Amino acid sequence: MTTPHIIRTQADLRGQIWEWRGGGETIAFVPTMGALHEGHLSLVRLAKKKASKVVVSIFVNPTQFAPGEDFESYPRTEEADVAKLATAGCDMVYIPRKNSMYNAHHATHIKVGGVAENLETDHRPTFFDGVALVVTKLLNRVAPDIAIFGEKDYQQLATIRRLVADLDMPISIVGAPIARDDEGLALSSRNQYFNPEGLKKARMLNTIMFRCAEAMRSGADIDIATRDASQALLDAGFSSIDYVSVACADSLELVKSGKIDGPKRLLIAAHCEGVRLIDNCAI
Ligand code: PAF
Repeated sequence: MTTPHIIRTQADLRGQIWEWRGGGETIAFVPTMGALHEGHLSLVRLAKKKASKVVVSIFVNPTQFAPGEDFESYPRTEEADVAKLATAGCDMVYIPRKNSMYNAHHATHIKVGGVAENLETDHRPTFFDGVALVVTKLLNRVAPDIAIFGEKDYQQLATIRRLVADLDMPISIVGAPIARDDEGLALSSRNQYFNPEGLKKARMLNTIMFRCAEAMRSGADIDIATRDASQALLDAGFSSIDYVSVACADSLELVKSGKIDGPKRLLIAAHCEGVRLIDNCAI
């Protein structure tokens, strides 16, 4: 177990990256917003298998939160995060200061089309603008060989793949499988908002999702299966559903009805006890 180097300025970051590059090291990058859990650590362990040095950033990015979302209350647990990263093989933790990421004159915006449309964007219209901006800045600063993102945020992963290809960034984007707890709930920093009763309800999401995927695999019509899953979520105590949708696995083009043909993804966003949960699986 090695305690990772904590770096807070761009100058220190650049210095360390140049030194590593000079020594022939390869660099994998895992961007995070902190409040780290086993899901993040699985990304770090994967990164360590793919490169000789691993950089993890911790930055709660204000531009991806809409007014009224949980930016202020988002869990900030820097000390515990660094201790966890030490166990997972992280070499450097980059923790930029808010003002260094967005100075008072910042006026550049990035909008990704195609895969970034529909689904999350129907409910969080500015979310991917904020993600695209901060990820571009972080990738420019760290300049890694590879960057790793979890498949839990499946549309985010597709959006970042598009962004990196369109802006000619020489970085390979790797998607990592969703980490789940013993009962299948996708790990998320926001799970800590639940009390035990809420957690029990939240765990119904993956049960209903996998059942719905199986039904479609066995020939159920997409429209009927997704409507049944929405109703099952409401019956399980979810307060509202943002979407239960099927999309082409790569283009994320929505498929509203008919039978499954070719690689598709089932994606869900729903509200449970005041917490917005997302999950997805291959069909
Ligand atoms: O997935 C996240 O935690 C964030 O959206 C990311 C990619 C770190 C950008 O702030």
